[in-house]
Amino acid sequence: MLLPIEQLIDPEEARQLGALLKAQAWTDGRRTAGASAAKVKSNLQLDEASELAITLSQRIRDVVRQHPLFMSAALPNRIFPPRFNCYQNGGHYGLHTDAAILTLPDGSMMRSDVSATLFLCDAEDYEGGELAIETRFGAQEVKMNAGDLILYPSTSLHEVRPVTRGQRIAAFFWIQSLVADISQRETLFELDQSIQVLTSERGAADNEVRRLSAVYHNLMRQWSNP
Ligand code: NI
Repeated sequence: MLLPIEQLIDPEEARQLGALLKAQAWTDGRRTAGASAAKVKSNLQLDEASELAITLSQRIRDVVRQHPLFMSAALPNRIFPPRFNCYQNGGHYGLHTDAAILTLPDGSMMRSDVSATLFLCDAEDYEGGELAIETRFGAQEVKMNAGDLILYPSTSLHEVRPVTRGQRIAAFFWIQSLVADISQRETLFELDQSIQVLTSERGAADNEVRRLSAVYHNLMRQWSNP
């Protein structure tokens, strides 16, 4: 499932964060790529140990954990601290899949189930730079505005096309979901979204709403792995 979430962060705040990031010292993005990914990766990344990176990364995690749509779709167990990248002067990231196992700053490991990109500049700020994600229905190209986020399965092959004008500034991170299986996760998401609509129409005390909520929680009990 590809899920765009518009204005996850206020666009003006996102633009300000993007401008702040632009002024930082960037390093070669190949530093954090595995051997095969490094061959197709050409971009810049912010040192994740810098004070700004640590502050922004925590801010983004706080925001997503408060966001009902993000929580419903990703069902996060662990969230990798967001990192920041910049594509310019033809910078690109060729077709690849994200690493399955990631090492967190504390040395513990997590699995990547869901990948996320949060845009910190507007689509009109650069030419090219589309995030192209392969799906069963062909490649889907994503280009969003400051503050918008796209969620996509970490299992998918994807690429960032060359940026031929301007700068593309974004945050990217991974989620280990409580529900590893993608089709189970999608079923829970669909069910939860329908329950939300029915709850607003009928009220939380409605018997059928309560029954469906019980089904949701019981499926979660069967499928989750906290
Ligand atoms: Ni990737």
